[in-house]
Amino acid sequence: MAAWPKRRCDIARASARPLVSDDLERVVAIERAAFTDPWSRKAFLDLLAQPHIRAFAADGPNGLLAGYALASLVADQGEILNLAVDSESRRRGLGHGLLAAMLDMFRREGAAAVYLEVRQSNAAALHLYQRAGFRPLSTRRAYYRNPTENAVTMALQLALEAAEKG
Ligand SMILES: CC(C)(COP(=O)(O)OP(=O)(O)OC[C@H]1O[C@@H](n2cnc3c(N)ncnc32)[C@H](O)[C@@H]1OP(=O)(O)O)[C@@H](O)C(=O)NCCC(=O)NCCS
Repeated sequence: MAAWPKRRCDIARASARPLVSDDLERVVAIERAAFTDPWSRKAFLDLLAQPHIRAFAADGPNGLLAGYALASLVADQGEILNLAVDSESRRRGLGHGLLAAMLDMFRREGAAAVYLEVRQSNAAALHLYQRAGFRPLSTRRAYYRNPTENAVTMALQLALEAAEKG
């Protein structure tokens, strides 16, 4: 399987691996089931062609792709763009593994901070991010469509974390 061109995601965690082009059909299927306002196949393709995008995959016990995550790193600012786990594979640590792989990558590549947006009602994702150290920054009113909903913007200050560790 060929990796996406220009992709660099040297994954230290066994539970996550680089996303490859053969994963796309399954990514699109999981995306459609996971979100009421899913990204299109073209949206994934357009993003994955960009060099600042890092993409990760997690396989289930049957070896099939069960989750994926997309992140962006521009200068020292990281952003988590997308994260989803197939409904049948949730609560088994895959979401945490994908998030940990992204944070490992951000630390290795020198990100000072990581940002994300999440639907205000998405308790599972809010818990996941809070447990990883993200803190709410602000609310973006009516940011999401279908249904219209506020976004909570969250941030994890990696530079602060590194300074505190000395
Ligand atoms: C959010 C999501 C990725 C979590 O994936 P997952 O593989 O189930 O997560 P994990 O099993 O690694 O759980 C890690 C932690 O997340 C939190 N969490 C996950 N699911 C949760 C739920 N349904 N309710 C509350 N907390 C939850 C918990 O803190 C959990 O730790 P714990 O199991 O020790 O309590 C998954 O629910 C999903 O794909 N949801 C639909 C898409 C989505 O909302 N993506 C996020 C967009 S911002």
